[in-house]
Amino acid sequence: MNLNQLSYEGWNKVAHSTEVTKDRPYGVSRPDFITSLCLWRTSKGSVVALERFCPFRGEDMAVGKIEDDCLVCPSHRMCWDKNGRLKATSTSHLRDYPWLICHSFKTKETNGFVYVWWTSLKKREKGGD
Ligand code: FES
Repeated sequence: MNLNQLSYEGWNKVAHSTEVTKDRPYGVSRPDFITSLCLWRTSKGSVVALERFCPFRGEDMAVGKIEDDCLVCPSHRMCWDKNGRLKATSTSHLRDYPWLICHSFKTKETNGFVYVWWTSLKKREKGGD
């Protein structure tokens, strides 16, 4: 099955604004999305959306923590910034993975809801949003 055919391209409502906080990650799974999402707020209040499962070993980061505006994976404590870049780890040998990136998604809030811009993987691979 080509999962790209299941995705709806555009702004997708994914959460109530009150569900997304600075204190803990909020996991979102939808059957029409290729990947699940992990949402949280930065210290300045903007909403961040990253893919939910860690690119290192696939841990569910929705059960992780938010520290210093980063999403901390519960397994090996890799820290992902709002752009999905690896910022730090608690284990020095994991710093050998600078090429790891967690996909990030554009977000907006309107009328009490959080929206995520969804783009098909094909378009993303060609350099689209
Ligand atoms: S699975 Fe995420 S840091 Fe290990």
